[in-house]
Amino acid sequence: MASTAGVESSVFVGKEDDIIQSKRKTAVVHGRHVVVIYHEGQFYAMDMHCYHAGGPLHLGDIEEINGKLCIVCPWHKYKITLAEGEGLYQGINPQAPKSSAKWCSKGVKQRTHCVHVRNGDVYVTLSDLSAGIDSDYYQSEEYRQTLKKA
Ligand code: FES
Repeated sequence: MASTAGVESSVFVGKEDDIIQSKRKTAVVHGRHVVVIYHEGQFYAMDMHCYHAGGPLHLGDIEEINGKLCIVCPWHKYKITLAEGEGLYQGINPQAPKSSAKWCSKGVKQRTHCVHVRNGDVYVTLSDLSAGIDSDYYQSEEYRQTLKKA
């Protein structure tokens, strides 16, 4: 497991007005690549690389699915809730194959982080890293090494 020492402190990622205008901002927080998203009056932060195969979530569209705002990964269109990092998929009941597909949850797959605004400055605090989440792999040194070899 990676060391988590010191990662609990918040890190300045940009000016509130700038992020509201651009709606997206990528940043490195304690060595972790995150995207800060401003949408409908709220800030969100999550790991920037998609839990499925490392896709660039900062380039994804936002859709509302089942009343939850989701980022849609531009690579394979996985839907991830902005607030919780939950992976959503459409499932069909095999006992009733003619019924329409329903949105279901895979559970939390993408690590989300806390965003705070103080005096017009936006800060991100990483979530508790002690328990692994799927998107962690795309923040790892192992993954960075595979990119260098590609
Ligand atoms: Fe995001 Fe595949 S990398 S859906």
